[in-house]
Amino acid sequence: MEKLSMAATMFCAVVLAALAAAAGGEAAVVEHTFVVHEMNQTHLCNTTKIYVVNGQLPGPTIDITDGDTVVVHVINRLPHGLTIHWHGIRQMRSCWSDGAGFVTECPIPPGGEHVYRFNVTGQVGTLWWHAHVTCLRATVAGAFIIRPKGGRYPFPTPAKDVPIIIGEWWELDLVELDRRMHDGNFDDNPLSATINGKLGDLSNCSGKPEESFVLDVVRGKTYLLRIVNTALFSEYYFKVAGHTFTVVGADGYYLTPYKTDMVTVAPGEAIDVLMAADAPPAHYHMVALANQPPEPDPQIPGFVSRGLVRYAGSSHNNNGLPVPTPLMPSQHNTMPSYYFHSNLTGLAHPDRHRVPMHVDERLFFALGLGSICRGTNKTCERGRSPETIVVATMNNVSFRHPTNASLLERYYDGQTSGLYTEDLPDHPPHPYNYTDRSLIPPGPLEKALEPTFKATKLRRFRYNTSVEIIFQSTALLQSDSNPMHLHGYDFFVLATGLGNYNPKTDPKKFNYHNPQLRNTVQVPRTGWAAVRFVTDNPGMWYLHCHFEFHIIMGMATAFIVENGPTPETSLPPPPPEFKRCGANGLTQP
Ligand code: C2O
Repeated sequence: MEKLSMAATMFCAVVLAALAAAAGGEAAVVEHTFVVHEMNQTHLCNTTKIYVVNGQLPGPTIDITDGDTVVVHVINRLPHGLTIHWHGIRQMRSCWSDGAGFVTECPIPPGGEHVYRFNVTGQVGTLWWHAHVTCLRATVAGAFIIRPKGGRYPFPTPAKDVPIIIGEWWELDLVELDRRMHDGNFDDNPLSATINGKLGDLSNCSGKPEESFVLDVVRGKTYLLRIVNTALFSEYYFKVAGHTFTVVGADGYYLTPYKTDMVTVAPGEAIDVLMAADAPPAHYHMVALANQPPEPDPQIPGFVSRGLVRYAGSSHNNNGLPVPTPLMPSQHNTMPSYYFHSNLTGLAHPDRHRVPMHVDERLFFALGLGSICRGTNKTCERGRSPETIVVATMNNVSFRHPTNASLLERYYDGQTSGLYTEDLPDHPPHPYNYTDRSLIPPGPLEKALEPTFKATKLRRFRYNTSVEIIFQSTALLQSDSNPMHLHGYDFFVLATGLGNYNPKTDPKKFNYHNPQLRNTVQVPRTGWAAVRFVTDNPGMWYLHCHFEFHIIMGMATAFIVENGPTPETSLPPPPPEFKRCGANGLTQP
């Protein structure tokens, strides 16, 4: 009896909180426990040990309303360190909960626990969460949904919403993969793309097709697809045969509705689209296809996952008719990505953040590859020679990731000497023709430009500085795009373009009227992107390319944002439950 009434009271409390939240009333506290553990999964005739949260792949969805506070208890049952990052959450004055390994905290050691606590206000749509040490994020990842207060969308309320997590299936142990990439070995590849963890029927093991992700729909209804790319390696094209999409949001902000038959999603991006089930009831294939630059760029295998849209009432075998498959672009054609991203604009509404019209500090970051000599040699043969390790750079500095201290903690304690310096250059040391395709080996042009070095160089900003960054993708050793992600902030994407950025003519193309607000900007292949943001959130914020190989190779830095003049504009001390480096015994990954 006692127990029953207790349960009833608790049930009522939960319902009341939910009702209050739904009515736009009091914000709720949403709690989760994430147990991270190993699990075996069999695909393509092989059983692999993978790392998951609560036995789920993709991991559990966090589903909240704008204004809620999130508390996640993470229990690490893995044999190595772990952090979880809430990708895209602004973490206003809660940098301590950002979960970037060795940037905002030391990893939770094996057997350890950690509590993340943060408020989410002013963001709506889809973000995601993922492990932020080594390559674990390939499987330790999930969707993070933020619903508008009172359920009021700026479009007709969809019948249902469906996370579409595009990822990769790795047979190689992810910790081993990380170790190999740190050694400069980039020969490993996933075996397949995945949609919501399914490899799809284009992959098979001795003739037995892999399971496909199936989306069941009812004719006449509209679905909100929350498409997230959690892959380590590739940008994806996503299509559904016989259907079109209306893009309505990205990275936690609404967009001006944009109609298209194909979505492009780079690692780190989250794209919300409406799909009307308006086709004759039948089965239709959906396809996620990875793109990559053509030769002479180094090539990886093509990855694809095929799923199914299945209408209620359509026959089990599609009436014996072939299932329509979408016509995909060539995997080597990267132009659709450029057009897709540059066609998106923000939805104008009254509480929208203001576009900064003046600029206090201008940065120009050239993104490329470089090389360092193996071992202790000071000189070595360049041009894809075995004497070098290929690394990635921003303004010719290759970020050395700390491995035994947290940048934020040491900054907060004022004990930074020997850990980092604050002299990341604002401009490339030697300007060159960044997008000259003859910089891709076999040279000889690149040989003079590729020598670089490893260092932990950060950049410091005063509170309330208006910053403009031009990200310039280069063709140095390869011509990949670069999905650049900044923690703790969103930037307005004022323009993107192909070729070298021209500081005289290109600012004329800037969109100050309704630019998209993004935490990840896809800097086009051999092109550039111009972004602006105001440093209104004090702390230590990781900036990096969201291709895992680029981050490991060093295309990264961190921005220090100083405290403002008041307690409300300053980073509070670490919360009581925060575990300092070493407090748990271990700091190593
Ligand atoms: Cu998706 Cu540094 O993060």
